[in-house]
Amino acid sequence: MKHLIDPTDLSLKEIDEILSLAEDIIQNRKKYSEVCKGKKLATLFYEPSTRTRLSFEAAMLELGGSVLGFSSADASSAAKGESVADTARTVSKYADIIAMRHPKEGAPLVASMYVDIPVINAGDGGHNHPTQTLTDLLTIKETKKRLDNLTVGFCGDLKFGRTVHSLIKQLSCYENMKFILISPPELQIPDYIKEETLLKKNIPFQEVCEMDTVINDLDILYMTRVQRERFFNEADYIRLKDTYILTLEKLENAKPDLKILHPLPRVNEIATEVDNDPRAVYFDQVEYGKFVRMALMLKLLGLDQTVE
Ligand code: CP
Repeated sequence: MKHLIDPTDLSLKEIDEILSLAEDIIQNRKKYSEVCKGKKLATLFYEPSTRTRLSFEAAMLELGGSVLGFSSADASSAAKGESVADTARTVSKYADIIAMRHPKEGAPLVASMYVDIPVINAGDGGHNHPTQTLTDLLTIKETKKRLDNLTVGFCGDLKFGRTVHSLIKQLSCYENMKFILISPPELQIPDYIKEETLLKKNIPFQEVCEMDTVINDLDILYMTRVQRERFFNEADYIRLKDTYILTLEKLENAKPDLKILHPLPRVNEIATEVDNDPRAVYFDQVEYGKFVRMALMLKLLGLDQTVE
């Protein structure tokens, strides 16, 4: 495991190891506080982010390392026309590991081809967001105590929501999963996910427009925002943005042990009244994201075996 570009770069065994390491970090924070002393993480973010960039940085700081980087393309020489390859080669002379977010699909993969330090895809366009997937897996494992035998509902923008694409791919590797895909027709899951993952692996799934008819079946409800930045047409965004708003009333028929996840940021799709419902775990999910990124960086830097 040298880079993490696509969720499928990790075998199930490697994912299990990362999740177990994250769980050990949660239990033994102090033990890991100096493991990355002398190591530097570069966060190269060509697109806005709160959670991913800051959780990567917090993760490296909590491991005793340092961070450098930029938080927008405008704050880097990309604004002068520098290529991703040249930027990555340059940064590899200053840092030990790179986390990159870019609006163009494939940019972190390009970066990984030009450097000899690990590159982590922190989100590339509408394509993949593998560390969010690890975050989501850890959240499900910690809150449901299993990663198999689950009925998972994905709701909202399933077309542009890269976290959904990555998570479906990964959850499809576990036993006895069922997916309910809740979206307006315009924002349905791309055909390639259906063909290359769900149909190919014979995973049961259904596509519906209404949440009310299926909410009582769900073990996990994964809410997403409509991704304004990926729309070509503002009128379409305005028409679709409030299609789903999760309220306490809508949760009345849901299972008592349902877990509600959201990669965040939230816009309108979950009413704030839901935040205090014990089934809402999206702010716990934020913290699991830091722990899983600590575990991932330790693995990619080859430091996971150095802790006793
Ligand atoms: N979940 C997520 O990727 O959030 P940010 O865009 O704030 O990083």
